[in-house]
This record gives sequence, structure tokens and C-alpha cells, in this order.
Amino acid sequence: MINNDRMLIQGGRPLIGEITVSGGKNTSVAVIPATLLCEEPCTIENLPDIEDVRELIGILETLGVKVEYVPGQYLRVDPKGADGYRVPYSLTHRMRASYYLLGGLLGRGCRAEVAYPGGCEIGSRPIDQHIKGFTALGAEIEDRGGYIYAKANRLIGADVFFDMVTVGGTINVMLAAVKAEGSTVIYNAAKEPHIVDLANFLNSMGAQVKGAGTGVIRIRGKQRLHGTSYTVIPDQIETGTLMIAAAATRGDVTVRGCIPTHMESLTAKLLEMGVRVGEDGDSIRVSPLGEQRAVNIKTQAYPGFPTDLQQPITALLCGANGNSMVTETIFEQRFKHLDELRRMGARIKLMERTVLIEGVRELYGAPVVVTDLRAGAALVVAGLMAKGITEIHGTSYIDRGYEHIEDKLRALGADIHREPI
Ligand code: EPZ
Repeated sequence: MINNDRMLIQGGRPLIGEITVSGGKNTSVAVIPATLLCEEPCTIENLPDIEDVRELIGILETLGVKVEYVPGQYLRVDPKGADGYRVPYSLTHRMRASYYLLGGLLGRGCRAEVAYPGGCEIGSRPIDQHIKGFTALGAEIEDRGGYIYAKANRLIGADVFFDMVTVGGTINVMLAAVKAEGSTVIYNAAKEPHIVDLANFLNSMGAQVKGAGTGVIRIRGKQRLHGTSYTVIPDQIETGTLMIAAAATRGDVTVRGCIPTHMESLTAKLLEMGVRVGEDGDSIRVSPLGEQRAVNIKTQAYPGFPTDLQQPITALLCGANGNSMVTETIFEQRFKHLDELRRMGARIKLMERTVLIEGVRELYGAPVVVTDLRAGAALVVAGLMAKGITEIHGTSYIDRGYEHIEDKLRALGADIHREPI
């Protein structure tokens, strides 16, 4: 859905108070297709009320799954008898995670026809490793006319060695392998928190997935999985975005309902900058300490610094004292926020994959355009820091991944609202 609105932020107010983080986007978009792997009802709680979740639920319905969705409460799906296996372009072009339908449908019925996914334009984003994994499990894959056709008589467990760490590839192979005959071992697997959460979800359906969270995942396939009730983990990237926004406004914010160990790479960088970060159970408090220092950051697969926070922290570093370097190693074009930050007075240069940032005393509001989800988060952070009014266009990208972001920020004292264009 394209929004016909703009977000207006009057910056310069410190964020103060407590806020509860929503359920994880990147977990939810894996768990929803995973419900296709059984023939019994599944109930999922703590899903964020975001566009990506709503679109995936819509796709399940077109495949014949019975759905009851109460946003903010629960999703109940009954996949019994669902016999669809084709997902057209009209349903996949806006979201990356639609590729998980390939793994889900292959695992369910050994057949899938899924149009190439869309999603944020942050680099070339091939899916050759997903295909290599499915092929190893015995599927025949044809890539024709914008669709991926995947078919197998039966799936047979195999060793899958990824050429690079891929979150999507790891998830997709897990989805297919839990229903394959025999054992699958995924080497060089991604270790992100949502990989562990998906494994926990699958195991709650009776699957046998071991080693999730390490580089080697071992799966013993099961002919049948059963229904389950599950609560997804909190969103690591929303938590990080709120922490960064707190630091950017020199505010004092406690983010509740998060998992502090998932945040260690960000916490370490904020501490290095001179921001105070305290942890207490499932809360993290970010508060000011004094001058914020420039730091250098390189994005990496988990537990390294997440690429999904590269753009928001770049906005924060625009106001730090000194010169920072932020190197993006995962997605080669995740820099489309830079031109917009420049309009707001940021002094930044891009050299290959490294952003050179010279901290400035203040940013100022300007009309800016969002080009991808985390660019949107970066511009919101910049808007909160800036003097004057920032006018953000292209808000639909933000709504794909952040639940009611302006309500949450307003609750912390931000002056932020939307209005129709
Ligand atoms: C997932 O994307 C997330 N998306 C991204 O979140 C996140 O930025 C990314 O993982 C890295 O953490 C979802 O979970 C839906 P990858 P994904 O496969 O799976 C290359 C956000 O903002 N690669 O780990 O697409 C690829 O080009 C989004 O929430 C291949 O070459 O990422 C990239 O350079 C955006 N061939 C690297 O690997 C493949 O077959 C890592 O990509 C697969 C990937």
C-alpha cells in the first residue's frame, strides 16, 4: 500500500520515558510461512502490526489457509487442506520475505511457484544460495519469466554449505528440511536471533532442529508436524532504533520487553560514543552522559553490528563530535539515505562502501524522501535531532517494518504526526 501522507517532525526535543518494543518483524515473516508445514491450527502471538505481516497473512489466505487475525493480539491459522502453491507477482513485489513461501510450500507439498520477491532496494539481493539448498534437498528448480518453480517427488535431507552467511537462505532451507526424509546439516548458517526463534517455533511443532544460533544447524526431518501456540521474540532492530533515537535526542528512554543480549554490538558502540546504557532484565535504559564521540563501525552478520542499524546510527553519528567511518559489508547499495541526510546539513561522503561522517553541531529540518525501510528509520532519527521541521515523504516504507512508530515516539515526548499530502 502506498501512503498518501507525510510525516512531520519538529525536532530538538529529548525523548523521555518508557516504551515497550513490538514483536520481531524478521521472525514474524519466517514464522507465518512456517505454519504451512502442518495440517493443524497454529496460534501466534506478539506479531507486530505492520504491512509485511498483513501482506504475508493475505498470501496465506490466497493459498487456502483459514485465517483469523486480531492485530495486536493473535493470529490463528488453520492450514488444513490448503492446496494453493502459486504466489503471483502482485502479492510478492513489495516484500522480500515472500521468498519464504518457497521453503514453506516445498516443505508442505513439494511444490511451489513463487514470483521473485521485491522489498527494499539495498543491493542486488540474489537468492542463489536458497536455490542451491533446495536443489541439495532434491528439488528441481526452474527460474522462468519472473517466477521460481520448485518441485520434488520427495525431499531428502542433505548437507548444505552456504558460500556466505545468509539469513534468508538459512531460514528457507530450514523450512524445507524439517519435512525432508533423513538429516540435513546446514554449514555456515546465519546466527541471528530470528533463526533461533524460527527453530524454536519449528521445534514447538514437533520438528527436530538443533544448533540454531551457531554456524552449524542439524535437522532431522519429520513426516508430520503438529499445530502449536507460539509467541515471537521482540524486535531487535526496533529496539536498536529506539536506543539510537534516545541517544540522538540526548534523551532518557527505557526500552521494555526487549532482549538485551541481542543488542550487545549496538550497546558497545553507544558506550564507546559516551552514551550511558544500562540493562535490567528485559529492559535497556539509554541516557546521556556528556559529549558524544565519533566511532567507527563495520556491519557484519550477527553477533556483529547489524546492517539493519547501519542507516539509523549513521544519522546519530552526524551529530557526534569528530569523524566517524561506517562501513557496510552486507548490502552494497544501502546508502540511499545519505543524500537526504545531506539536505539536513549532514557532512558525509561515500567512499565505496564506507560513509565518512564529519560530525556537525546541528542538523536542520528539510523535506526528505524515504527509499527503503531503514533509510526511513534514519530519517526519523535525523528529524528528531534536527532543528526545525522535517517533512518525510514515502512513509509506506516505514510502515512495512515499524509498528505505529509515531505513536511510540509521541508517547516519549516527540513532536511527530502525519498529515495527508
Ligand atoms: C535478511 O535479508 C533480512 N530480511 C534483512 O532485513 C537483513 O538486512 C538481512 O537479512 C541481513 O541481516 C528478512 O529477514 C526478511 P541475507 P536477506 O540473505 O535474507 C547475499 C530489514 O531492514 N546473498 O542474509 O535478504 C546478499 O546479497 C531487512 O529488516 C547472496 O549472494 O539477507 C547479501 O549481500 C532488509 N545469495 C548477503 O548475502 C543468496 O542466495 C546477506 O544476505 C543470499 C544472500
